[in-house]
Amino acid sequence: MSVNEITHPLIRHKLSIMRSADLSTRSFRQLAAEVGALLTYEATKDMELESYELEGWCGPIQAERIKGKKVTVVPILRAGIGMMDGVLQLIPSARISVVGLYRNEETLEPVPYFEKLCKDIDQRLALIVDPMLATGGSMIATIDMLKKAGCKHIKTLVLVAAPEGIAKVVEAHPDVEIFTAAIDDCLNEQGYILPGLGDAGDKIFGTR
Ligand code: URA
Repeated sequence: MSVNEITHPLIRHKLSIMRSADLSTRSFRQLAAEVGALLTYEATKDMELESYELEGWCGPIQAERIKGKKVTVVPILRAGIGMMDGVLQLIPSARISVVGLYRNEETLEPVPYFEKLCKDIDQRLALIVDPMLATGGSMIATIDMLKKAGCKHIKTLVLVAAPEGIAKVVEAHPDVEIFTAAIDDCLNEQGYILPGLGDAGDKIFGTR
């Protein structure tokens, strides 16, 4: 299953508050991180464990830990920064790989302008974070970039996804799982998701 709409009551409750037109920057930012953490919990449910011996209070016990190299969180600039802290709350040791893209106004294609990936990305699970999966262009370009760098295991975490964007990502990268707090109705002519959240970057950074 490539697309997972997470219908946990906490997520539905928090996302509904985020849809309110007059929500403060502070609350929007906090909720973006909280929903990011809840999506991280869902997206990491299949992480492999290994057992090891631990000196417990009553002697040696068999304990468990996550196996191997772990996670890199990949915020897509700039709005992805707003979900990054939520991932790091649950996985504080995650490496951070940052990607920036702009839109070429003639071709309408996303063009990378910044790429700083962790060195061992080929051995890590990459969790791409971007609040809005709209047309899918930036997400596909980011996945292309990570795969080119050798990354083999990629999941995406988004707050709201449009059916159009989901279809494009699934077609281009069927191996990449999408975790979203909601699948909304459609895109408008300006590429905004309806009903959506509005401009998530502006709301997170307080620049609206
Ligand atoms: N980016 C946003 O911030 N909001 C949308 O609805 C679509 C893309």
